[in-house]
Amino acid sequence: MQIDPSSTPVPEVYQYVVGVVTPRPIAWVTTLSPSGVVNLAPFSFFNAFGANPPVVVFSPTLRRDGTKKDTLLNLERLGEFVVHASVASLAEKVNLTSKEVPPSESEVSLAGLTTVPSVKVKPPRIAESPVALECLVKQIVPCGTGPIAANLVIGEVVMMHVADAVLDGKGGVDPRKLETVARLGGAFWCRTSDLFEQQRP
Ligand SMILES: Cc1cc2nc3c(=O)[nH]c(=O)nc-3n(C[C@H](O)[C@H](O)[C@H](O)COP(=O)(O)O)c2cc1C
Repeated sequence: MQIDPSSTPVPEVYQYVVGVVTPRPIAWVTTLSPSGVVNLAPFSFFNAFGANPPVVVFSPTLRRDGTKKDTLLNLERLGEFVVHASVASLAEKVNLTSKEVPPSESEVSLAGLTTVPSVKVKPPRIAESPVALECLVKQIVPCGTGPIAANLVIGEVVMMHVADAVLDGKGGVDPRKLETVARLGGAFWCRTSDLFEQQRP
């Protein structure tokens, strides 16, 4: 099968993209609205792209009606966010916070979570999450104007929080303790419980 995006309906292109670029880590992102409401939502168009300085990118796409999601609107205004790791013990809450709620309501209380103040940015971080990356927006790159068009949010990580409980005893992060989850196509997610090691040549 071959798929030419220029002649394929956008919802189908979306299903192929998320079905073949897998597994995708899930950024669980807090932002702050102008009236101080903490917004929390998951984004699997996400990854890290360097370490000097540490840079992450995620994409709040345009909604199917072409409007901007609350996360993107908050970032355009304040330019600060916190990315949390999505881990197995919180997977249901991560999913729950993808619910569309009015900007005046917080997904934090919807999911029964709590926040603690961040150190270098105004949006708080999620207390229950073992990893939180405080970020400043370097650039937002819109890549289209229609439904499901990408908006690349490029963020510089200015502070990292890692819970002692997920460390390996040598100061590193132990993936067997962190237990991140990731997203595949359709409604499939995966765990990171089937690990293997390879040494670099
Ligand atoms: C696991 C998961 C991953 C998601 N990834 C994305 C994504 O990469 N980009 C996106 O725009 N929406 C994604 N969504 C949907 C958003 O979380 C959803 O539209 C949410 O309501 C956006 O919240 P906001 O309007 O408060 O920003 C994802 C949902 C789930 C459950």
